Amino acid sequence: MAVARIDGKAISYWTGLEPFVEGREYVLFIHGAGGGQYTWSYQKGFFKKAFNPIILELPGHGASEGEGETDIGKYAEQVYRFINTLHLPKLFLVGHSMGGAIVQTLALRYSEILKGIILVGTGARLRVLPMILNETLTRFEEVVKKINELAFSSKTSPELIERGVLGMMSCRPEVVQGDFTACNRFDVMKEVENITLPTLIICGDDDQLTPVKYAQFLHDRIKGSRLEIIPEAGHMVMMESPSIFNETIREFILSPIFSASR
Ligand code: COA
Repeated sequence: MAVARIDGKAISYWTGLEPFVEGREYVLFIHGAGGGQYTWSYQKGFFKKAFNPIILELPGHGASEGEGETDIGKYAEQVYRFINTLHLPKLFLVGHSMGGAIVQTLALRYSEILKGIILVGTGARLRVLPMILNETLTRFEEVVKKINELAFSSKTSPELIERGVLGMMSCRPEVVQGDFTACNRFDVMKEVENITLPTLIICGDDDQLTPVKYAQFLHDRIKGSRLEIIPEAGHMVMMESPSIFNETIREFILSPIFSASR
């Protein structure tokens, strides 16, 4: 993992290849609440073959220093500064769940630095179950287990679900609580139609945390967007069905479409 210094804090990120390969598209992956680079484990090998992939760990997550935030806009500004600090050219953003909220915010504020966006298991509004909001600090382990039960399809192997539990447990309870507070406050249902970038929306058909209805809403409002519902996968679709997931993104990046006529 490499490190970028932002506001005196070490922000951790993974890149497939350093230096970056000229002529390849840059793809920056942003994890969800309580996440880290572990959520993108099945993307690393695939994307480094043909792209310049970058996996960012938000402040307070994984090996990144800092406290985390309770506001999506603040996370979006941190990601914007990260992109500037690395002097990245126009790029594609992939955001999962809370990361998808961050990507929508960046698409609305800074579309000029983006070539396209990929919204994964997310929505224009992300209200959170009261159990998660009220009990994360007091019953961390039980809440993390419950979140991960809901986050994976019932068809997913217990080993993969355990990976999700261990990954989230490695995040401090205060950071996880902050993330879900940020999600719960997030609402761009009225603004999202102003996104004018090539957009791919991906959702597992068994997603219980951000159901297909949320993805359909995004698809209906973002002109020219493409919607891909992946069968037998839940909220952690990039871990549960990595082959279809990766290939869908590869195809989109190689021919991103934006049609204002839709
Ligand atoms: N896209 C499209 N529709 C949405 C939406 C989105 N992003 N967010 C909410 N809605 C819809 C709901 O489906 C609902 O429609 P309905 O009245 O036709 O049923 C309406 O807007 C209001 O929903 P919501 O704002 O979610 O409030 P609520 O009081 O009905 O439900 C929860 C609150 C927390 C129970 C519910 O949001 C939920 O189950 N959330 C998913 C679980 C979770 O915690 N996810 C984590 C997200 S990071």
